[in-house]
Amino acid sequence: MEAVRVGLVGAGFMGKIHSIAYRNAAMLFGHEVPAVDAVVVTDFDPALAERAVRDWGWSRSVGSWQEVTASDEVDVVDICTPNDNHVDIALDAFARGKHVLCEKPLALDADSAYQLCQAAAASGRVAQVGFVYRQWPAVAMARKLIDEGAIGQVRTARSQFLLDYNGNPDIPMSWRFDRVRAGSGALGDVGSHCIDLLQYLVGPIAHVSSRMQTFIHQRKNHDGSLVDVTVDDQTEILADFESGASGTILASWAGTGHKCDLGFELIGSRGSVTFSWEHSNELRFYDSTDAADRQGYRTILVGPAHPGGDGIHTVAAQGLGYTDAFAIAARNTLRNLTAGRVVSGPTFVDGLRVAEVTDAVIAAAASGSRVAVTRRMV
Ligand SMILES: NC(=O)c1ccc[n+]([C@@H]2O[C@H](COP(=O)([O-])OP(=O)(O)OC[C@H]3O[C@@H](n4cnc5c(N)ncnc54)[C@H](O)[C@@H]3O)[C@@H](O)[C@H]2O)c1
Repeated sequence: MEAVRVGLVGAGFMGKIHSIAYRNAAMLFGHEVPAVDAVVVTDFDPALAERAVRDWGWSRSVGSWQEVTASDEVDVVDICTPNDNHVDIALDAFARGKHVLCEKPLALDADSAYQLCQAAAASGRVAQVGFVYRQWPAVAMARKLIDEGAIGQVRTARSQFLLDYNGNPDIPMSWRFDRVRAGSGALGDVGSHCIDLLQYLVGPIAHVSSRMQTFIHQRKNHDGSLVDVTVDDQTEILADFESGASGTILASWAGTGHKCDLGFELIGSRGSVTFSWEHSNELRFYDSTDAADRQGYRTILVGPAHPGGDGIHTVAAQGLGYTDAFAIAARNTLRNLTAGRVVSGPTFVDGLRVAEVTDAVIAAAASGSRVAVTRRMV
Protein backbone atom coordinates (compact mmCIF):
# COMPACT_ATOMS: atom_id res chain seq x y z
CA MET A 1 0.00 0.00 0.00
CA GLU A 2 1.27 3.42 -0.93
CA ALA A 3 1.44 6.02 1.82
CA VAL A 4 -1.45 8.46 1.97
CA ARG A 5 -0.25 12.05 1.76
CA VAL A 6 -2.31 14.34 4.00
CA GLY A 7 -2.64 18.11 4.09
CA LEU A 8 -4.15 19.50 7.29
CA VAL A 9 -6.07 22.79 7.38
CA GLY A 10 -6.58 24.07 10.93
CA ALA A 11 -4.21 23.26 13.76
CA GLY A 12 -6.47 23.94 16.72
CA PHE A 13 -8.18 21.36 18.94
CA MET A 14 -9.36 19.03 16.17
CA GLY A 15 -6.14 19.49 14.20
CA LYS A 16 -4.28 18.07 17.18
CA ILE A 17 -6.71 15.18 17.69
CA HIS A 18 -6.54 14.24 13.99
CA SER A 19 -2.74 14.41 14.08
CA ILE A 20 -2.71 12.01 17.02
CA ALA A 21 -5.21 9.77 15.24
CA TYR A 22 -2.98 9.35 12.17
CA ARG A 23 -0.03 8.45 14.38
CA ASN A 24 -2.07 6.05 16.51
CA ALA A 25 -3.73 4.41 13.50
CA ALA A 26 -0.26 3.56 12.17
CA MET A 27 0.78 2.16 15.56
CA LEU A 28 -2.42 0.22 16.18
CA PHE A 29 -3.48 -0.92 12.73
CA GLY A 30 -0.29 -0.53 10.70
CA HIS A 31 -0.56 -3.97 9.11
CA GLU A 32 -3.93 -3.16 7.55
CA VAL A 33 -3.86 0.55 6.70
CA PRO A 34 -1.55 2.61 4.52
CA ALA A 35 1.11 4.72 6.20
CA VAL A 36 0.31 8.41 6.60
CA ASP A 37 2.69 10.98 5.24
CA ALA A 38 1.89 14.17 7.17
CA VAL A 39 2.98 16.42 4.33
CA VAL A 40 1.76 19.91 5.07
CA VAL A 41 -0.22 21.89 7.62
CA THR A 42 -1.65 25.39 7.72
CA ASP A 43 -3.46 27.60 10.20
CA PHE A 44 -4.51 31.24 10.28
CA ASP A 45 -2.21 31.51 13.24
CA PRO A 46 1.31 30.70 11.98
CA ALA A 47 2.44 29.83 15.52
CA LEU A 48 -0.12 27.02 15.64
CA ALA A 49 1.01 25.69 12.26
CA GLU A 50 4.61 25.78 13.44
CA ARG A 51 3.63 23.95 16.63
CA ALA A 52 2.07 21.24 14.45
CA VAL A 53 5.38 20.86 12.63
CA ARG A 54 7.44 20.90 15.80
CA ASP A 55 5.26 18.71 18.04
CA TRP A 56 2.84 16.71 15.89
CA GLY A 57 5.04 15.45 13.08
CA TRP A 58 3.92 17.57 10.10
CA SER A 59 6.72 18.03 7.57
CA ARG A 60 6.18 21.70 6.80
CA SER A 61 3.75 24.56 7.22
CA VAL A 62 2.34 26.94 4.62
CA GLY A 63 0.58 30.28 4.90
CA SER A 64 -2.82 29.53 3.39
CA TRP A 65 -5.28 26.69 2.83
CA GLN A 66 -5.07 27.35 -0.93
CA GLU A 67 -1.45 26.16 -0.84
CA VAL A 68 -2.64 22.91 0.75
CA THR A 69 -5.43 22.20 -1.74
CA ALA A 70 -3.13 23.13 -4.66
CA SER A 71 -0.20 21.00 -3.53
CA ASP A 72 0.75 18.11 -5.84
CA GLU A 73 2.12 16.35 -2.78
CA VAL A 74 -1.31 16.05 -1.13
CA ASP A 75 -3.81 13.20 -1.71
CA VAL A 76 -6.34 14.09 0.99
CA VAL A 77 -7.25 17.44 2.51
CA ASP A 78 -8.23 17.20 6.18
CA ILE A 79 -10.40 20.20 7.14
CA CYS A 80 -10.32 21.09 10.84
CA THR A 81 -11.28 24.77 10.62
CA PRO A 82 -14.37 26.56 11.97
CA ASN A 83 -17.63 25.70 10.21
CA ASP A 84 -17.89 28.75 7.92
CA ASN A 85 -15.04 27.83 5.60
CA HIS A 86 -15.55 24.07 5.25
CA VAL A 87 -17.39 24.56 1.94
CA ASP A 88 -14.82 26.80 0.22
CA ILE A 89 -11.93 24.55 1.18
CA ALA A 90 -13.69 21.30 0.29
CA LEU A 91 -14.98 22.59 -3.08
CA ASP A 92 -11.50 23.72 -4.04
CA ALA A 93 -10.00 20.42 -2.89
CA PHE A 94 -12.44 18.39 -5.02
CA ALA A 95 -11.81 20.67 -8.01
CA ARG A 96 -8.13 19.84 -7.66
CA GLY A 97 -8.76 16.10 -7.45
CA LYS A 98 -8.19 15.64 -3.72
CA HIS A 99 -10.02 13.37 -1.32
CA VAL A 100 -11.59 15.25 1.62
CA LEU A 101 -12.08 14.54 5.30
CA CYS A 102 -14.14 17.41 6.71
CA GLU A 103 -15.04 18.02 10.32
CA LYS A 104 -18.69 18.32 11.28
CA PRO A 105 -20.99 20.10 10.82
CA LEU A 106 -20.32 19.74 7.11
CA ALA A 107 -21.63 23.22 6.25
CA LEU A 108 -23.63 26.13 7.65
CA ASP A 109 -26.86 24.94 6.04
CA ALA A 110 -28.29 22.08 4.00
CA ASP A 111 -28.07 23.89 0.65
CA SER A 112 -24.32 24.28 1.08
CA ALA A 113 -23.98 20.69 2.29
CA TYR A 114 -25.89 19.57 -0.80
CA GLN A 115 -23.52 21.56 -3.02
CA LEU A 116 -20.64 19.72 -1.34
CA CYS A 117 -22.27 16.32 -1.90
CA GLN A 118 -22.70 17.12 -5.60
CA ALA A 119 -19.07 18.24 -5.89
CA ALA A 120 -17.91 15.11 -4.07
CA ALA A 121 -19.94 12.86 -6.37
CA ALA A 122 -18.73 14.65 -9.51
CA SER A 123 -15.10 14.34 -8.38
CA GLY A 124 -15.37 10.62 -7.60
CA ARG A 125 -13.12 11.21 -4.60
CA VAL A 126 -13.53 9.86 -1.08
CA ALA A 127 -15.53 12.32 1.02
CA GLN A 128 -15.99 11.77 4.76
CA VAL A 129 -17.42 13.89 7.55
CA GLY A 130 -16.13 13.76 11.12
CA PHE A 131 -19.02 12.07 12.90
CA VAL A 132 -16.68 10.03 15.02
CA TYR A 133 -19.05 8.70 17.65
CA ARG A 134 -21.07 6.42 15.33
CA GLN A 135 -17.78 4.58 14.66
CA TRP A 136 -17.24 3.90 18.36
CA PRO A 137 -17.40 0.17 19.26
CA ALA A 138 -20.23 0.52 21.81
CA VAL A 139 -22.32 2.53 19.34
CA ALA A 140 -21.57 0.20 16.44
CA MET A 141 -22.54 -2.67 18.74
CA ALA A 142 -25.87 -0.95 19.47
CA ARG A 143 -26.45 -0.77 15.72
CA LYS A 144 -25.60 -4.48 15.44
CA LEU A 145 -28.15 -5.32 18.14
CA ILE A 146 -30.79 -3.29 16.28
CA ASP A 147 -29.94 -4.92 12.94
CA GLU A 148 -30.23 -8.36 14.54
CA GLY A 149 -33.66 -7.51 15.95
CA ALA A 150 -32.43 -7.86 19.53
CA ILE A 151 -34.44 -4.86 20.72
CA GLY A 152 -37.29 -5.26 18.22
CA GLN A 153 -38.94 -2.18 16.74
CA VAL A 154 -37.54 1.03 18.21
CA ARG A 155 -40.47 2.95 19.64
CA THR A 156 -38.71 5.65 21.63
CA ALA A 157 -35.32 7.21 20.98
CA ARG A 158 -33.70 9.88 23.05
CA SER A 159 -30.27 11.38 22.86
CA GLN A 160 -28.42 14.04 24.76
CA PHE A 161 -25.10 15.79 24.46
CA LEU A 162 -24.55 17.79 27.60
CA LEU A 163 -21.31 19.54 28.42
CA ASP A 164 -20.66 22.56 30.62
CA TYR A 165 -17.62 24.00 28.90
CA ASN A 166 -19.43 27.13 27.73
CA GLY A 167 -21.70 27.59 30.74
CA ASN A 168 -19.37 30.15 32.31
CA PRO A 169 -20.04 33.77 31.18
CA ASP A 170 -16.30 34.48 31.48
CA ILE A 171 -15.56 32.19 28.52
CA PRO A 172 -14.55 34.79 25.89
CA MET A 173 -16.16 35.38 22.52
CA SER A 174 -15.07 32.97 19.80
CA TRP A 175 -16.28 31.74 16.42
CA ARG A 176 -18.51 29.19 18.20
CA PHE A 177 -20.75 32.01 19.54
CA ASP A 178 -21.15 33.74 16.15
CA ARG A 179 -23.97 32.49 13.92
CA VAL A 180 -22.24 33.76 10.78
CA ARG A 181 -19.20 31.59 11.46
CA ALA A 182 -20.80 28.61 13.20
CA GLY A 183 -24.33 28.39 11.76
CA SER A 184 -25.70 27.57 15.21
CA GLY A 185 -24.36 27.03 18.71
CA ALA A 186 -24.92 23.95 20.84
CA LEU A 187 -27.18 22.61 18.09
CA GLY A 188 -24.46 22.34 15.45
CA ASP A 189 -21.54 21.90 17.81
CA VAL A 190 -22.86 19.01 19.86
CA GLY A 191 -26.49 18.40 18.86
CA SER A 192 -25.31 17.44 15.37
CA HIS A 193 -23.70 14.36 16.93
CA CYS A 194 -27.05 13.39 18.52
CA ILE A 195 -28.88 13.86 15.21
CA ASP A 196 -26.29 11.77 13.40
CA LEU A 197 -26.37 9.01 16.01
CA LEU A 198 -30.16 8.75 16.09
CA GLN A 199 -30.43 8.76 12.29
CA TYR A 200 -27.66 6.13 12.12
CA LEU A 201 -29.44 3.95 14.68
CA VAL A 202 -33.14 4.59 14.05
CA GLY A 203 -33.33 6.03 10.53
CA PRO A 204 -34.35 9.36 9.01
CA ILE A 205 -36.10 12.03 11.05
CA ALA A 206 -39.21 13.27 9.23
CA HIS A 207 -40.56 16.13 11.38
CA VAL A 208 -39.26 18.24 14.25
CA SER A 209 -40.46 20.71 16.84
CA SER A 210 -37.84 22.56 18.83
CA ARG A 211 -36.85 25.21 21.33
CA MET A 212 -33.52 27.06 21.17
CA GLN A 213 -32.30 29.15 24.09
CA THR A 214 -29.39 31.47 24.76
CA PHE A 215 -28.46 31.89 28.42
CA ILE A 216 -25.41 34.13 28.09
CA HIS A 217 -26.25 36.92 25.67
CA GLN A 218 -22.92 38.75 25.55
CA ARG A 219 -19.30 37.73 25.90
CA LYS A 220 -16.03 39.59 26.12
CA ASN A 221 -14.05 40.11 22.95
CA HIS A 222 -10.24 39.95 22.96
CA ASP A 223 -10.15 43.76 23.52
CA GLY A 224 -12.45 43.50 26.55
CA SER A 225 -15.53 44.92 24.80
CA LEU A 226 -18.82 43.03 25.08
CA VAL A 227 -20.23 41.50 21.89
CA ASP A 228 -23.55 39.81 21.24
CA VAL A 229 -23.79 36.03 21.21
CA THR A 230 -25.93 35.07 18.22
CA VAL A 231 -26.29 31.32 18.74
CA ASP A 232 -28.06 28.91 21.08
CA ASP A 233 -26.57 27.61 24.32
CA GLN A 234 -29.18 24.87 24.44
CA THR A 235 -31.54 23.25 21.96
CA GLU A 236 -34.35 20.79 22.63
CA ILE A 237 -35.87 18.77 19.81
CA LEU A 238 -39.00 16.67 19.55
CA ALA A 239 -38.52 14.37 16.54
CA ASP A 240 -40.74 12.02 14.55
CA PHE A 241 -38.85 9.33 12.67
CA GLU A 242 -39.98 7.97 9.31
CA SER A 243 -40.12 4.55 11.00
CA GLY A 244 -42.82 5.79 13.37
CA ALA A 245 -40.49 6.03 16.36
CA SER A 246 -40.68 9.17 18.46
CA GLY A 247 -37.57 10.92 19.67
CA THR A 248 -36.19 13.68 21.85
CA ILE A 249 -32.80 15.38 21.77
CA LEU A 250 -31.27 17.72 24.34
CA ALA A 251 -28.08 19.51 23.29
CA SER A 252 -26.38 21.93 25.63
CA TRP A 253 -22.90 23.29 26.23
CA ALA A 254 -24.15 24.94 29.43
CA GLY A 255 -25.21 21.67 31.05
CA THR A 256 -23.75 22.31 34.47
CA GLY A 257 -22.22 19.17 35.94
CA HIS A 258 -22.04 17.26 32.66
CA LYS A 259 -18.56 17.03 31.18
CA CYS A 260 -19.02 14.96 28.03
CA ASP A 261 -22.37 13.29 28.37
CA LEU A 262 -23.11 12.22 24.83
CA GLY A 263 -25.56 9.38 24.96
CA PHE A 264 -28.76 7.76 23.88
CA GLU A 265 -31.45 5.37 25.00
CA LEU A 266 -33.39 3.36 22.45
CA ILE A 267 -36.46 1.64 23.81
CA GLY A 268 -37.77 -1.10 21.58
CA SER A 269 -40.63 -3.58 21.47
CA ARG A 270 -38.36 -6.40 22.66
CA GLY A 271 -35.41 -4.75 24.40
CA SER A 272 -33.54 -1.52 24.96
CA VAL A 273 -29.98 -0.16 24.71
CA THR A 274 -28.41 2.73 26.60
CA PHE A 275 -25.07 4.47 26.15
CA SER A 276 -23.24 7.50 27.56
CA TRP A 277 -19.76 8.66 26.61
CA GLU A 278 -19.16 9.29 30.33
CA HIS A 279 -19.06 5.47 30.53
CA SER A 280 -17.79 5.05 26.99
CA ASN A 281 -16.60 1.48 27.44
CA GLU A 282 -20.02 0.26 28.49
CA LEU A 283 -23.14 -0.47 26.48
CA ARG A 284 -26.20 -1.33 28.52
CA PHE A 285 -28.65 -3.80 27.01
CA TYR A 286 -32.02 -5.02 28.23
CA ASP A 287 -33.59 -8.15 26.78
CA SER A 288 -37.26 -8.66 27.64
CA THR A 289 -37.00 -12.35 26.74
CA ASP A 290 -34.73 -12.99 29.73
CA ALA A 291 -36.36 -15.13 32.39
CA ALA A 292 -38.60 -13.07 34.66
CA ASP A 293 -36.43 -13.72 37.70
CA ARG A 294 -33.29 -12.25 36.06
CA GLN A 295 -34.57 -9.35 34.04
CA GLY A 296 -32.70 -6.06 34.12
CA TYR A 297 -30.16 -4.09 32.13
CA ARG A 298 -26.86 -5.91 31.62
CA THR A 299 -23.58 -4.13 30.95
CA ILE A 300 -21.60 -5.10 27.87
CA LEU A 301 -17.90 -4.19 28.24
CA VAL A 302 -16.28 -2.88 25.06
CA GLY A 303 -13.49 -4.99 23.65
CA PRO A 304 -12.06 -6.70 20.60
CA ALA A 305 -15.34 -8.57 19.93
CA HIS A 306 -17.13 -5.35 19.08
CA PRO A 307 -17.19 -3.60 15.69
CA GLY A 308 -14.12 -1.35 15.49
CA GLY A 309 -12.80 -2.62 18.82
CA ASP A 310 -10.43 -5.12 17.29
CA GLY A 311 -6.75 -4.35 16.96
CA ILE A 312 -6.43 -2.16 20.04
CA HIS A 313 -6.56 -4.28 23.18
CA THR A 314 -6.50 -8.05 23.47
CA VAL A 315 -9.24 -8.32 26.09
CA ALA A 316 -12.37 -6.33 26.91
CA ALA A 317 -12.58 -3.68 29.63
CA GLN A 318 -9.03 -2.40 29.26
CA GLY A 319 -10.58 0.91 28.32
CA LEU A 320 -10.54 2.89 25.10
CA GLY A 321 -10.67 6.69 25.09
CA TYR A 322 -11.22 9.84 23.05
CA THR A 323 -8.04 9.59 20.98
CA ASP A 324 -8.81 5.90 20.32
CA ALA A 325 -12.17 6.96 18.87
CA PHE A 326 -10.39 9.14 16.35
CA ALA A 327 -7.81 6.43 15.63
CA ILE A 328 -10.68 4.05 14.83
CA ALA A 329 -12.20 6.71 12.55
CA ALA A 330 -8.79 7.27 10.92
CA ARG A 331 -8.54 3.54 10.25
CA ASN A 332 -11.88 3.68 8.45
CA THR A 333 -10.79 6.72 6.43
CA LEU A 334 -7.46 5.13 5.49
CA ARG A 335 -9.21 1.92 4.45
CA ASN A 336 -11.65 3.98 2.37
CA LEU A 337 -8.81 5.82 0.69
CA THR A 338 -7.27 2.48 -0.24
CA ALA A 339 -10.61 1.26 -1.61
CA GLY A 340 -11.23 4.56 -3.42
CA ARG A 341 -14.74 4.81 -1.93
CA VAL A 342 -16.39 4.99 1.47
CA VAL A 343 -16.77 1.43 2.71
CA SER A 344 -17.17 2.32 6.37
CA GLY A 345 -17.76 5.49 8.34
CA PRO A 346 -19.90 8.55 7.68
CA THR A 347 -20.10 10.08 4.19
CA PHE A 348 -20.83 13.61 3.06
CA VAL A 349 -24.41 12.47 2.47
CA ASP A 350 -24.64 11.65 6.17
CA GLY A 351 -23.40 15.19 6.81
CA LEU A 352 -26.13 16.51 4.51
CA ARG A 353 -28.79 14.46 6.32
CA VAL A 354 -27.79 16.09 9.61
CA ALA A 355 -27.77 19.56 7.99
CA GLU A 356 -31.31 18.99 6.67
CA VAL A 357 -32.55 18.21 10.17
CA THR A 358 -30.58 21.13 11.62
CA ASP A 359 -32.24 23.54 9.17
CA ALA A 360 -35.66 22.17 10.15
CA VAL A 361 -34.85 22.52 13.86
CA ILE A 362 -33.87 26.19 13.40
CA ALA A 363 -37.05 26.84 11.36
CA ALA A 364 -39.20 25.06 13.95
CA ALA A 365 -37.73 27.09 16.80
CA ALA A 366 -38.27 30.34 14.88
CA SER A 367 -41.88 29.55 13.92
CA GLY A 368 -42.93 27.68 17.03
CA SER A 369 -44.49 25.01 14.86
CA ARG A 370 -43.74 21.46 13.72
CA VAL A 371 -41.59 21.46 10.58
CA ALA A 372 -41.07 18.74 7.96
CA VAL A 373 -37.44 17.90 7.18
CA THR A 374 -36.77 18.73 3.51
CA ARG A 375 -34.72 15.95 1.90
CA ARG A 376 -32.58 16.39 -1.20
CA MET A 377 -32.00 13.69 -3.79
CA VAL A 378 -28.36 12.62 -3.97
N1 LIG B 1 -15.82 15.45 15.52
C1 LIG B 1 -15.83 16.02 16.71
O1 LIG B 1 -16.16 15.40 17.71
C2 LIG B 1 -15.41 17.48 16.83
C3 LIG B 1 -14.99 17.99 18.07
C4 LIG B 1 -14.60 19.32 18.13
C5 LIG B 1 -14.68 20.14 17.01
N2 LIG B 1 -15.13 19.62 15.83
C6 LIG B 1 -15.21 20.47 14.62
O2 LIG B 1 -13.88 20.73 14.16
C7 LIG B 1 -13.82 22.02 13.57
C8 LIG B 1 -12.71 22.81 14.29
O3 LIG B 1 -13.03 22.90 15.66
P1 LIG B 1 -11.88 23.12 16.74
O4 LIG B 1 -12.47 22.76 18.07
O5 LIG B 1 -10.62 22.44 16.35
O6 LIG B 1 -11.71 24.70 16.65
P2 LIG B 1 -10.43 25.55 17.07
O7 LIG B 1 -10.90 26.94 17.16
O8 LIG B 1 -9.74 24.92 18.22
O9 LIG B 1 -9.44 25.37 15.82
C9 LIG B 1 -9.73 25.88 14.54
C10 LIG B 1 -8.42 26.34 13.93
O10 LIG B 1 -8.65 26.70 12.57
C11 LIG B 1 -7.87 27.86 12.29
N3 LIG B 1 -8.46 28.53 11.13
C12 LIG B 1 -9.60 29.24 11.07
N4 LIG B 1 -9.85 29.62 9.81
C13 LIG B 1 -8.84 29.14 9.06
C14 LIG B 1 -8.52 29.20 7.68
N5 LIG B 1 -9.33 29.82 6.80
N6 LIG B 1 -7.37 28.63 7.25
C15 LIG B 1 -6.56 28.00 8.12
N7 LIG B 1 -6.82 27.88 9.45
C16 LIG B 1 -7.95 28.45 9.90
C17 LIG B 1 -7.91 28.68 13.55
O11 LIG B 1 -6.82 29.58 13.64
C18 LIG B 1 -7.84 27.58 14.62
O12 LIG B 1 -6.52 27.31 15.05
C19 LIG B 1 -15.21 22.64 13.72
O13 LIG B 1 -15.92 22.47 12.53
C20 LIG B 1 -15.83 21.82 14.84
O14 LIG B 1 -17.24 21.77 14.77
C21 LIG B 1 -15.48 18.32 15.72
